[in-house]
Amino acid sequence: MRHVPLKEITEEMFLAHSVFGNDGRVLLKKRTKLTASFLQRLEKMGYTHLYVYESPDEQWDCTGPLRDRIRAEAMRVLWQSLIRVVERKPLDEEQILFVVEGILKNVLQEEDGIFNIIDIKTADNYIYNHSLNVCVLSILMAKHLNFNQDELKEIALGAFLHDLGKAHIQSSVKKIQALSLLDTVLIKQHAKRGFDILKETGFPAKVANMAYQHHEREDGSGYPLGLIGVDIPLYSKIVGTADSFDAMISRRVYRELRWNDQALQELEGESSTKYDPKVVAALRRSVALYPLGSGVELIDGEVRVVVAASATKLILQKPGELTDLLELTGDDFSRIKKRVF
Ligand SMILES: [Fe+2]
Repeated sequence: MRHVPLKEITEEMFLAHSVFGNDGRVLLKKRTKLTASFLQRLEKMGYTHLYVYESPDEQWDCTGPLRDRIRAEAMRVLWQSLIRVVERKPLDEEQILFVVEGILKNVLQEEDGIFNIIDIKTADNYIYNHSLNVCVLSILMAKHLNFNQDELKEIALGAFLHDLGKAHIQSSVKKIQALSLLDTVLIKQHAKRGFDILKETGFPAKVANMAYQHHEREDGSGYPLGLIGVDIPLYSKIVGTADSFDAMISRRVYRELRWNDQALQELEGESSTKYDPKVVAALRRSVALYPLGSGVELIDGEVRVVVAASATKLILQKPGELTDLLELTGDDFSRIKKRVF
């Protein structure tokens, strides 16, 4: 299994993850053979990279941080919630709580407990995948910061809905495009807008505050209020840090994506000034440095693909050779020179 640019995919390859429509429907199932017409369709949908199997016998799983059924349901609920915001209808609180509980349960059940995906966002599904990623990351970080079950639920909820105030902004739903001047103005307002919507729906103030404060930064350089570190609740710092990380690992027209290790380093460089160091440390423990499908060069010059990754163990496969596996644990990670794809 590899994460490859669309233009390098041949008709001998198989899809290693399902592809969803924005309403959560499965458009292409995992293990579908990638014919030219499927590839054309995926390109039209805005995909630039996919996870693929090079042989139908490959068993390594690439489910990402959530099971397909839960991911699909969560995308559908987000999609409906954004439409309700635009139509000025009240949110379906019960439906949202149900799906967030499903996400939380799924993340806590995962043995590896690590965020293990590169980037499968497109221009059209950015806000849905971004919200889900931020939700999963925030849960993992909050777990490392020892929050209890009820607190994890509140954090998951606020993270899932943190960008709801962007419902009216075209380029946020199509985030890969550059921002128009009007959008830049609206972006500044989305935090307060999100807060108002969540308060009106009846969610607790600390959940609504996560939408309000996720762009505030330690040194007061954030928005909308320019709060400083001591005045920003930990919930909001978690979602703000997860939000920045996921934006960094996403591909956009005006900025190339960073790999997980580069994004982490960048955030660590800004910890204390912009981000709370203990929150950034929790992020480091929650993210796979070399995620599934990425390629690494070992110090002896050999290139291998990551086919399984946890916080403490990596399984590396020689490209195209299903049985030639190398297992690296803990200290052995220093045998990796750098990531190459
Ligand atoms: Fe935001």
